[in-house]
Amino acid sequence: MNNNLNKTAQEVLSRTILAADESTKTIAKRLSTVGVESNPENNRQYRQILFKADGIENYVSGVILYDETVRQSDDDGVPFPKALTDKGVVPGIKVDKGTVKFSEDKVDSYTDGLDGLSDRYTEYKNMGTRFSKWRAVYTIADGSPTNESIQRNAEDLAVYAKASQDAGIVPIVEPEVLMDGNHSLEQDKEVTTKVLTAVFDALKKQGVDLSGIILKPNMITSGKDNSQQADVETVARETLEVLKQTVPFAVPGIAFLSGGQSPDLATDHLNAINRLKNKNQSDYPWRVTASYGRALQGEALEAWGGKKENIEKAQKVFLDRAEKVYKASLGEL
Ligand code: G3H
Repeated sequence: MNNNLNKTAQEVLSRTILAADESTKTIAKRLSTVGVESNPENNRQYRQILFKADGIENYVSGVILYDETVRQSDDDGVPFPKALTDKGVVPGIKVDKGTVKFSEDKVDSYTDGLDGLSDRYTEYKNMGTRFSKWRAVYTIADGSPTNESIQRNAEDLAVYAKASQDAGIVPIVEPEVLMDGNHSLEQDKEVTTKVLTAVFDALKKQGVDLSGIILKPNMITSGKDNSQQADVETVARETLEVLKQTVPFAVPGIAFLSGGQSPDLATDHLNAINRLKNKNQSDYPWRVTASYGRALQGEALEAWGGKKENIEKAQKVFLDRAEKVYKASLGEL
């Protein structure tokens, strides 16, 4: 066990993790919903609103940055990684380069970005980042995900995690089974169990130190288009059941993605999971928190709407949500 990696993982997990690592394409999609054109300067200004919110460090312990953002500075000229570190928030970096379909007629994909990864780590480490993220994506559809894609993504996640640890950086391992589709909660449970089992097998084979990673999975929910949505208690129970079956006790913590859930629902699910976990601590020894993108940012983005005069309001809305998600990570909402 590497004590430094474990210490950093615990620090990053101590409150919540803001995922502000949208790719160029995704940030353009998000900003367009409020009529703002995406370009490096507008992206910087938007992200600055979040990072400079007064008191962010009370609820947020880590921020995942994108390659463009990690090189940018706030209005005072302080590089974002330093500005965050100065506040007691750990800066992290998304190192994957997005998903690629195995073939045009299939939904299964792998994630690009292993080439040149150790060189990029050297640069990112010099910029002050202390953790990283790699996202693999799985779609539930007829015949998907295939065993081949589950295996390939597990192996790539493990190679990434090892490279990250070799660079002294804590890897967030993110296998995301998408909510897209009309599948049942049971199907989601089955696929997620398979995916997580394959991921932990691969991590062990690759010699990854499990005490120095953070798992970022989906919750177990019904597909977005299923008319029979499982209730909050069921999602909490089934999610913990899957984690208990698949996640070794050596892992220090789990930080869920929100995956398109509304801010309220993502918060309520996290709270219910932690309430249940608190009753059976010996079955679920990990810290369980959130690493939300949309569920932490959505309301703030809307409140801002691209207008200078709305910045304060947007920061207040962001902090209110971050406080709720932090309380939910303790089961205290
Ligand atoms: O990779 C996905 C993001 O880090 C989390 O985003 O909470 O909007 O799903 P999300």
